[in-house]
Amino acid sequence: MIEILSPSELPRARAAGALVADILQTLKGRATVGTNLLDIDRWAETAIVEAGASSCYVDYAPSFGRGPFGHYICTSVNDAVLHGLPHDRALAEGDLVSLDLAVSLDGVVADSAISFVVGESRPPESVAMIEATERALAAGIAAAGPGARVGDISYAIGSVLSEAGYPVNTQFGGHGVGSTMHQDPHVANAGRPGRGYTLRPGLLLALEPWVMAGTAELVTDADGWTLRSATGSRSAHSEHTIAITGDGVEILTVPTTARS
Ligand code: MF3
Ligand code: CO
Repeated sequence: MIEILSPSELPRARAAGALVADILQTLKGRATVGTNLLDIDRWAETAIVEAGASSCYVDYAPSFGRGPFGHYICTSVNDAVLHGLPHDRALAEGDLVSLDLAVSLDGVVADSAISFVVGESRPPESVAMIEATERALAAGIAAAGPGARVGDISYAIGSVLSEAGYPVNTQFGGHGVGSTMHQDPHVANAGRPGRGYTLRPGLLLALEPWVMAGTAELVTDADGWTLRSATGSRSAHSEHTIAITGDGVEILTVPTTARS
């Protein structure tokens, strides 16, 4: 199903987007060497509850996971790239962490992910990988707008990732967002321009480029959720929820502090 929000619903989508973005920035600021992934999960839970929002994850039981997720945020470290189930594990200097958070506020969902390196080190391969997903996300957003096609976004994202030297996996990608987290249309991270659903004002999309160094093959962790690089190589993920407007695109998951 594809949901189109009415103009009167857009303020609620903005509020949900700001909440998700602000929580992610706060968690990034607190996550440091020695931080346990379960602490990050608890902080996320507290922030969601305090805001009067609800988690899209805790009861989520899709076909690609084992039972309800049971946690409030995805914490994917190093070779873990998507759906990282929080475990009793402390972050170490140089770990590449992806945090992915989706909540529902006043009936509207926002979904966003950020990747960063823990501590003071800046391993060039990790930084390059994170920046490639951020550039791909920006290119996908630039290709969106009323009248554009889903394939235009997929092509833009895939081109940036491929040109940066990363094989692209099309099993998991972006998606429509609305009153629930995962809706149509699916937005693959590679595709052909001019194909697919035509974007309309009021459509919310989560765009989420992700890559693994040197491979496109995923393996599922023994926890039944966490998806890892098949070769154990590092990985990164960036995600925004955007709204298609009458004359362009609005990025909903921008932190309050970064708004002009
Ligand atoms: N928010 C993720 C996405 O970007 C989905 C996570 S599902 C979970 O689409 F159950 F693993 F949390
Ligand atoms: Co998503």
